Amino acid sequence: MKTWRIFVISSIFITGYCQDVNLTFPEHLKLGVATASYQTEGAWNANDKGVNVWDFWTHKYPSLIADESNGDVACDTYNKYKEDVQIIKNLGFNFFRLSISWSRILPSGLANEISKDGIQYYKNFITELIANDIEPVVSLYHWDHPQVIEEMGGWTNELIVDWFADYARIIFTELGPYVKIFTTINEPQIFCSQGYGSVKTAPGKLLQDVGPYLCGHNVLKAHAKVYHMYDDEFRATQRGQIGMALSASSHYPLDADDNVSPDTAFQFECGWFMNPIFIGDYPEIMKTRIDMISERQGYSESRLPRFTPEWIAYIKGTADYFGLNHYSSKIVEPDPEEEFNVYNTDEGIIHTRNSTWSMSATSWLWVVPEGFGNVLRKIKNDYGDPTIFVLENGYSDEGELDDYHRIEYYYSYLKELLIAVNRDGCKVERYAVWSILDNFEWSEGYTKKFGIIGVDFDNPSRNRTYKLSAKWWEKVLHTRTLLEVPRSSAPNNYTWSFMITACCIMSVFNYFHIFR
Ligand code: NOJ
Repeated sequence: MKTWRIFVISSIFITGYCQDVNLTFPEHLKLGVATASYQTEGAWNANDKGVNVWDFWTHKYPSLIADESNGDVACDTYNKYKEDVQIIKNLGFNFFRLSISWSRILPSGLANEISKDGIQYYKNFITELIANDIEPVVSLYHWDHPQVIEEMGGWTNELIVDWFADYARIIFTELGPYVKIFTTINEPQIFCSQGYGSVKTAPGKLLQDVGPYLCGHNVLKAHAKVYHMYDDEFRATQRGQIGMALSASSHYPLDADDNVSPDTAFQFECGWFMNPIFIGDYPEIMKTRIDMISERQGYSESRLPRFTPEWIAYIKGTADYFGLNHYSSKIVEPDPEEEFNVYNTDEGIIHTRNSTWSMSATSWLWVVPEGFGNVLRKIKNDYGDPTIFVLENGYSDEGELDDYHRIEYYYSYLKELLIAVNRDGCKVERYAVWSILDNFEWSEGYTKKFGIIGVDFDNPSRNRTYKLSAKWWEKVLHTRTLLEVPRSSAPNNYTWSFMITACCIMSVFNYFHIFR
């Protein structure tokens, strides 16, 4: 074969593989894993721990959980945390995101009684992490508030703002000297909508369409109060960072000319909480629509409560980073019934998927890697280029140990992350895998698995098993480079598109007799 032919063919291959992306993780981007107390800890009634809303809910209404299970034992992290720390260390992760169980610290929900055992457990866990060179990242609240607080109205009672601040003060005092990153509240839009507007999530109260916004209003006040308390009482000595974690998807319009629906959907999902924190007050589209629909429904006031100017100013600026949980994307279109003055939802959007997107085991989780990059760029543009901590990203299946699809998911999503960081300058400083362990997936029980480490939930010793994805992650972490999906896996989208492009180019060459 003539030299020039070899040159042409190798150029095609080289161009195909060099996709103009720097696949190296920059030094400032730390990689970690995430969990949450109720989903992993177990030991639901150890020592003096109080009952939380998820203990109560799963015990009282087991039929609302897919496999009628609960988090009584879960992964038994309470007893096995040292083993888990060794796994994380061996894999090479830089940080571990855990959450504190409020009722393990305050059995009565309020600050009159502090559990020494509860404090000691988290101190042991956190010092074990630090001793193994793993940075602790701590959420104060991941959906499991004390049942006694719920009986007093939970997140719909404004007094929770003070109760939450009292609890946070104890955590900062006891654990703050060891922890440099705190998250106040995880994914409030989920527990406010589903916990106070449906029976999908504890406490499962059907409070018309008023409950979710009341919950959200108190969440924002509680978050801001805790942020200011950290500033006033702890920041000078502890020098940490504090923020909130929100889930945000990318939204693509069904009709290319529709330039309204994607942003409306984003505002109802993410702007609800991040606008008051980063910009000041609720998004205009939420105020306008909820006011209008409330009036049509005959309410004397909008179902969306309003902040006074003092509260707007107090909440604005209360984040040292933007905490992002990202999994998937959606196709959006305006609800056609609104043309006939029928308002089915406050946002007025129908959410679907593109039929080419592949699915995970979870009904809402479709694999759309480019959506990750888009949401990072949207946050950069809309919220003043903040420091971003990706606090959750992951894929669910039914528990396969050779979890190629999970590796493909991570590969394709991390590639988009690296484009957003290395090419587009998004300031992402943390990225956490959800999750290190298979765990209790809320109303799905143990039927959906997100872990890179499997847990044998039928065995009292809750043995851990490395999945293929854990081994892949280990190599990525040791090289700090995004590695291709192992060979035996089915070709991923990128490989397919490369092969198809190469074939097309070869056919064109052939057609014009270039190789003759
Ligand atoms: C986000 C939640 O924070 C977490 O608790 C949950 O398990 C994952 N999404 C997966 O659904």
